[in-house]
Amino acid sequence: MQLRRRIRWLVRHGLIRRTVQRQMRAGDLGSRLMLDPAIREDPFPSYDQIRAQGPLVRCDLALFSAQHNVCEAVLRSPHFGQARLDLLPGILQVGAKIGGRGALGPIEPPSMLVADPPEHTRYRKLVTRAFSARAIAALRPRIEQIAEDLLDDMASAASGSSTVDLVSHYASLLPATVIAEILGAPVQMRRQFLDWGAGAALSLDVGLSYPDFRRSELDIAALHRWMLGHFADIRRAPRDDVLSTLVTAHDQEDRLTSDELSSIAMLLLAAGFETTVNLLGNGAVLLMRHPDQLDLLLGQPQGWVNAVEEILRYESPVQRTGRVANQDTEVARHQVPAGSFIVLLLGGANRDPAVFPDPHRFDVQRANAAQNLAFSSGIHYCIGATLARLEGEVGLRALFCRFPDISLADAPHRRPTRVLRGYDTIPVRLRSHVTSSIGHYGV
Ligand code: HEM
Repeated sequence: MQLRRRIRWLVRHGLIRRTVQRQMRAGDLGSRLMLDPAIREDPFPSYDQIRAQGPLVRCDLALFSAQHNVCEAVLRSPHFGQARLDLLPGILQVGAKIGGRGALGPIEPPSMLVADPPEHTRYRKLVTRAFSARAIAALRPRIEQIAEDLLDDMASAASGSSTVDLVSHYASLLPATVIAEILGAPVQMRRQFLDWGAGAALSLDVGLSYPDFRRSELDIAALHRWMLGHFADIRRAPRDDVLSTLVTAHDQEDRLTSDELSSIAMLLLAAGFETTVNLLGNGAVLLMRHPDQLDLLLGQPQGWVNAVEEILRYESPVQRTGRVANQDTEVARHQVPAGSFIVLLLGGANRDPAVFPDPHRFDVQRANAAQNLAFSSGIHYCIGATLARLEGEVGLRALFCRFPDISLADAPHRRPTRVLRGYDTIPVRLRSHVTSSIGHYGV
């Protein structure tokens, strides 16, 4: 078991890690983006450097793009699909077979995130209705209530001490509670879900260390075991929720295999909070550091919708994704041979001056902030985008209306992930205390 995990790590991360470390020391920018700790903290100058070199930049590892038009074109093109294990060089394929399949992680087949049509189309059809604009709009009052309850709890937690952690008391619990209710998972387990989710989130990065890889596999396996037990409960007493719909699609309609059922259920649960926590955390820090922008919003509550777009643009919670050319093709007048891997720097595309003038300025009134690619584009466009936007708008507005002079008590701490950009702790002082938040300002 341990040995096979070691082999899996070597094939998926270890060999790449060693190569990337070597290339990083030689100054290769793409490799530094993958592993350099300084670039993780502030990747934006590197994105500018890549963009300045052209639409598609060859680094040792892959092609990279930080241009908005190129990223969007690749994401929408049928000539690009997801990376597959059978594209690995022969020797690595042998290793992959010996190592065996690991945990059913978010970028492990049959995950929807790495599926191509027709499987991808089949998976999405099963769940899109639950996340439609109409279904999500109906959740607004409930999300407002959850935000208010969490703010009450956070105020009580803060009353005995001068500082409180905004992530553990609010930014993580809000989306974890909402997605658990939507899916029909027990809300009292939300802290356990967050713990497993943090391990699963590591698996999105390239070149993991062995301890991180081991942690991610164990956490995903624990979530999977729990999910199988929950499916058994649903079979005994089916309900009217998303997970019950998926179980029915597997048991009665033969539309999903067992692995597909588990994979979709775990992806929806983890994606439901692992990303939105970063939108809330990044947004809160940006607004505490830009009081002039916060003042604009406190005086003009209808501005929150656009502010959320600007936060998504400026500090994109998902910084990058990738695609492989499934045939010889052309992008931005560059020939791209079949099998080429392109890293799409969404966080860089969102700072492209060709689309966003003065892109490094945080401006909640930016007219075209909504043109950001934070939720990707094309067939993998985020299923939860409408939900995440609503949680961002309600969650941030409720926080700042209740505590308008909330401030950082200490430097916030970035989470260790690279694909996901956010904070794992944000120590704050709440100071003033207005009793009702959303009601004061309305929409
Ligand atoms: C601010 C919050 C969020 C951000 C920034 C975000 C971002 C993304 C991105 C960039 C992708 C596509 C990746 C690619 O093209 O390779 C994606 C896909 C996905 N997201 Fe989100 N997401 C967020 C919230 C959510 C929520 C709340 C859910 C809850 C259901 C969710 C569920 C999914 C799913 C299931 C996919 C896979 C879609 C597919 O492959 O067709 N996301 N998300």
